[in-house]
Amino acid sequence: MESYTIQEAARLLGVGEDQVRHTLQDLAAKNPTLSGKEPLTKDTVEAVRQALRGAKPAPAAGKQGATVFCVTSGKGGVGKTAFAVNTAVEFARRGYRTIVVDADLGLANAHILGGVKPAKTLSDLLDKKAELHEIIVDGPGGAKFVSGGSGVAEMANLDDAGRKRIVDAVQALKPYCDIVVIDTGAGVSKAVTDFVAISDHTIVVTTSNFAAIADAYGIVKIMVQEGYRRSMHLVVNRVRSPEEAEQVFKKLKGCTERFLSFDLNWLGLLPEDTSVEGAVTKRSPFCESFPNSVATRYLKKVVTSLERFLPVLAGRTG
Ligand SMILES: Nc1ncnc2c1ncn2[C@@H]1O[C@H](COP(=O)(O)OP(=O)(O)OP(=O)(O)O)[C@@H](O)[C@H]1O
Ligand SMILES: [Mg+2]
Repeated sequence: MESYTIQEAARLLGVGEDQVRHTLQDLAAKNPTLSGKEPLTKDTVEAVRQALRGAKPAPAAGKQGATVFCVTSGKGGVGKTAFAVNTAVEFARRGYRTIVVDADLGLANAHILGGVKPAKTLSDLLDKKAELHEIIVDGPGGAKFVSGGSGVAEMANLDDAGRKRIVDAVQALKPYCDIVVIDTGAGVSKAVTDFVAISDHTIVVTTSNFAAIADAYGIVKIMVQEGYRRSMHLVVNRVRSPEEAEQVFKKLKGCTERFLSFDLNWLGLLPEDTSVEGAVTKRSPFCESFPNSVATRYLKKVVTSLERFLPVLAGRTG
């Protein structure tokens, strides 16, 4: 039977250990059959989760668990991971319980940008060497990280069943947080589209490079053809002016409307900024190590725009 220490339960629930202890005391006072002693059963952790949720503003009607944002692109190297990690950290700083999942399976590097060292990854979960709560690592700003494993060929070549288990594991995180940010690899393979398919919102990242724009169109096209009907938003990265980003958006929106009858939303831009690369060298998100940079200013605008897609302050702890 699965059992948890208070520390593990706190990590899984995205709250402090003291908060878990106090909630257990309250629950035990109301229900003497509930043992607040370690090891905690899965049911006890679930009861704590419900109690914590009850203490917070109610989620929007019908909304179950976290809102999932999937960050993807057609072309590689356009800035997905930098965007996903910093977005997650900024959400966490604003008080949302946020988990960033590095779904670039086998080539995971979000933990490097976050400056965290995951001892266990989704690869260990797949091999049954770790439970879900063991692969969640504390990161900067209070964000949690789940890594897809790096240099693991098995992860890069998963079959349908293996991918389904990983996707199910990501879904299983949803009751324990407010926001899941998935950072995918590049391209249009199943390893990417399976994650897009489970997201509430997809964020397509491109630069103004012609090949990157064409590949951004490619991922939208494939998802629409596969029946994806939820929202897709565009972020144009590494631009030198807002006009440059606007031109890229107009071009892509024109194409998706005309050829796919699909409405692409504008989300925002990130400027070309040396602090982004500087932060990678420091193994820290740029919004933490360069809080006054232009990139951070624009990132905050994007996160504010994304906040409007969240259930009314659901689970916000700040
Ligand atoms: N706005 C920016 N300004 C300057 N450099 C940037 C910016 N965004 C990203 N970069 C740099 O571009 C490189 C690629 O970024 P990143 O790893 O986030 O891309 P990616 O899309 O996740 O790549 P992959 O497809 O390989 O996963 C990194 O060296 C990063 O520091
Ligand atoms: Mg990446």
